[in-house]
Order: sequence, then C-alpha cells, then structure tokens
Amino acid sequence: MHSTEASEKGFANVRPFLRWAGSKRRLLKHLVPFIPGQLGKYYEPFLGGGSLFFFLCPDRAEISDASASLMDIYRAIKRDPEGVLEFLRPLRPSRSAFEQIKEMTPASDAEKGGSFIFLNRACWNGLYRVNSDGKFNVPYGWPKTNHLIDADNLRRCAKQLRRRSVSLRHQDFEEISKRVEKNDFVFFDPPYVTSHNMNGFVDWNEDLFSWKDQIRLAELTQLLIYKGANVWVTNADHRDVRDLYRGIHYRQITRISTLAADKTRRTKTSEAIFVGGPAFAEVQGTRRDSYADTGNCRAD
Ligand SMILES: C[S@@+](CC[C@H](N)C(=O)[O-])C[C@H]1O[C@@H](n2cnc3c(N)ncnc32)[C@H](O)[C@@H]1O
Repeated sequence: MHSTEASEKGFANVRPFLRWAGSKRRLLKHLVPFIPGQLGKYYEPFLGGGSLFFFLCPDRAEISDASASLMDIYRAIKRDPEGVLEFLRPLRPSRSAFEQIKEMTPASDAEKGGSFIFLNRACWNGLYRVNSDGKFNVPYGWPKTNHLIDADNLRRCAKQLRRRSVSLRHQDFEEISKRVEKNDFVFFDPPYVTSHNMNGFVDWNEDLFSWKDQIRLAELTQLLIYKGANVWVTNADHRDVRDLYRGIHYRQITRISTLAADKTRRTKTSEAIFVGGPAFAEVQGTRRDSYADTGNCRAD
C-alpha cells in the first residue's frame, strides 16, 4: 500500500485542503507507526478533511462521507483544480466577501470548489454547518492571514483524487461492508459521542450521529475484523464507548487541548483508538496502552 519511509514522512507531502472539525492531522504521528507496509484497499468512510487518506496516498482506496456537499467538493477539486485556483486568486478574506460568497449559488466545479474553500478558510474555526434551507451558516472567523490556499498542495490533492483506483462516494458508512475484503484497511473516524464535548467536536450531536449509529458502527467493526480486514476506530475515550468495543484492542491518546474560544485555557483530554485485524496482531498484545500528545485539537 505504501512504504514505511513514506508513512513516516507523509507520502508525497500532501495535506488536506480543508480545515475540518475532528481532523486527525495531529494524531497522525501516533497512528502511522502502526500501519504495516503491505495492506489491501484503503477505506475511509467518514472522510471529512481526509487527513489520513492524504497522508498515506494509498494506491487503492474508497473514500466517502454522508455529506453530499462535501463529496461534491472533492469531485470539483478532482475535475477542475485550476478553475478552483482561478476562482480563489483575486479573493481576500473580508466580512463583505464572506457574506457575498455565502449567498452564491455556484454553477461550475470552479465555483463550487472555490466558494467552499473560501468559506471554510474564512469561517469560524473551520466548521461546516448548514441551516434548514441548506445554506452555510457558520459566522465569519476573522482569519489572521490573507492566504487562502496552497496552490501546489491543492494540485497534489487533485492528482491523488484523480487516480483511477481511488473512488469517491456519497454514502452512509455501512455501505462499505459489501466491498471490504480480507487484508483491506478501514479507518473509521466517526462523529464522537457528545458527552466528550470539550475537545472541538461539540458540533456533532445526536441528530447527526446517534447512539444507534455508534452501535451500528461497533457491530460493523466486529464484522469486518471477523472477515479478516484491518480496522481502526477512533472515538471519545468514554466508558460507554469502550464497552461498545469490548474485546478489541484499545489505546488511549491523551493531549492538551486549547479551546478555540479561549486560547489561554488548556485542558487535558483523551481519545480512544480501537485496533483490530491480522496486520495489527503485534500491537494487540495488551488491552490498554497510552500516549501523550501536546498538540491541540482544533480544526486545522
Ligand atoms: C470527525 S469527522 C471526520 C474527520 C476526518 N477523519 C479528518 O481527518 O478530517 C466525521 C465525518 O463523518 C461524517 N458522517 C456523519 N455521519 C455519517 C454517516 N452515517 N456515514 C458516513 N459519514 C458520516 C461527517 O459528515 C464528517 O465529515
């Protein structure tokens, strides 16, 4: 799937082109050492900003998300990165530009991708939220920089998305169950349970991903591991979540979290990773293990 050397550095230096609440960028250094070189197809069904996908640049992948607008943006970037860059080139973040672009009805891939990236970079904390009419409704974030996009990075993202063996889908996570095979690698990074609400994931709530969904996900995880796939699941480090994944190897990651609203307040928070499947046999010797991280966990 990728070489060990690549996994340490990040293959081809590709970074997500979106800021995304719950992004795993800062967890990568803990996660990546456990990925063996030879794995089957890569699945990331809670794509969001796609931190791990862009880090690994796997040869074969299916990436998906339940957000139709998000997947539309990935398609727009894949089809017309130069048009998106052209759209963004004259723009600078300002409240008036923000309000104007919020009201736009994008017609082309360039406008779709460009307006989404503009709003994502200029809004408060990289959140994505729409109102009942489907209109973006996150407030202006007063960004400190005029820099909207790293053009070369966007081109590298588009190149990765254009690979013939990478498919993009708009779907519920459970849809992958029909296709995952032995030795494939599945990364589940769902909206976290909301009781763990001090870590930047406050926007995910019961309507977006219910406890029933958490149960569905835990059952699917067990099924895929039983089929011989290699699976990672991240979630809040909460007793109820650990109970859901009982029997699957568990690791705790602790880190210092800076709350976006108050940069001087730092709180210690922990997340859980559940790891299963033949490729990870050697890390599954002990049920409990932990790491410390000093990064914060706001959307990048
Ligand atoms: C925590 S974010 C993923 C962050 C991502 N791993 C990253 O590094 O940027 C969770 C994602 O799950 C998606 N989602 C919510 N419910 C879903 C479902 N039932 N099936 C698939 N995706 C879903 C959301 O749209 C959101 O993009």
